[in-house]
Amino acid sequence: MSRLKGTGPAALSVRGISKTFLEKDGELEVLSDVSFDIEKGELVCVLGPSGCGKSTLLKIVAGLESPDRGDVSVEGRTVSGPGRDRCVVFQEDALFPWLTVAENVAFGAKGRMAKSELRSEVKRHLEMTGLSRFADYLPREISGGMKQRVALARVLILKPKVLLMDEPFGALDAQTREAMQDLLLSLIEDHSYTVMFITHDVGEAAAIADRVIVMDRSPGRIKAFLSTDGLDPTEVRAELRSIMKAR
Ligand SMILES: Nc1ncnc2c1ncn2[C@@H]1O[C@H](COP(=O)(O)OP(=O)(O)O)[C@@H](O)[C@H]1O
Ligand SMILES: [Mg+2]
Repeated sequence: MSRLKGTGPAALSVRGISKTFLEKDGELEVLSDVSFDIEKGELVCVLGPSGCGKSTLLKIVAGLESPDRGDVSVEGRTVSGPGRDRCVVFQEDALFPWLTVAENVAFGAKGRMAKSELRSEVKRHLEMTGLSRFADYLPREISGGMKQRVALARVLILKPKVLLMDEPFGALDAQTREAMQDLLLSLIEDHSYTVMFITHDVGEAAAIADRVIVMDRSPGRIKAFLSTDGLDPTEVRAELRSIMKAR
């Protein structure tokens, strides 16, 4: 699953991110000096226990939360605030319940391209995500897995430079989750998407990642990087478990 590294700037570069929240009973240092790069076409999993700051980190990268220190750049350009270059898929789909599947996929791209192009882009993204049959369904008429396909299609149509996913398959049953992981991998294979994928699940990270960033908590920080190159998923799982256990 290794991919050629670009020679230019990283697709995503995170430098020295720190964040402290003020809570009722004092300060909570959620992220301490977090730095990493993600290359174009790379799927990097951020793995760590609940509460280690994964979602906060993703929100900072997305520009939905601001860091106390550090910065985020996309293809060498420092970013602040949200932008279409970084699109997020959360665990909870945020589909418009009154719009059909096709209309949900079209929504964010409307006005950004000519009508005929929009039509063909919607069709193409429905095909890519296996949703063609469901184009005219409403979100309440489709399963959780199908909803996450819509959530994926509606951001891919925007051609983000980095796709940010926060436990996107966490609410799905095991079989659906596996199908979604396969779908994501085949989409990356065909289209070279760059993905920062958050999970607390060792098995999920081992199944999909090119590289894993292992985090620890209190304060949230990077504990280790593991490239999965040349390892099979069983070896990656074992390696990740021992990294997570180590003090
Ligand atoms: N807006 C906030 N204000 C105060 N504390 C927060 C806020 N967001 C998250 N936290 C706290 O920061 C810690 C890390 O949260 P989070 O980033 O959601 O972790 P994870 O996604 O790894 O489970 C938790 O203890 C959480 O309660
Ligand atoms: Mg989280």
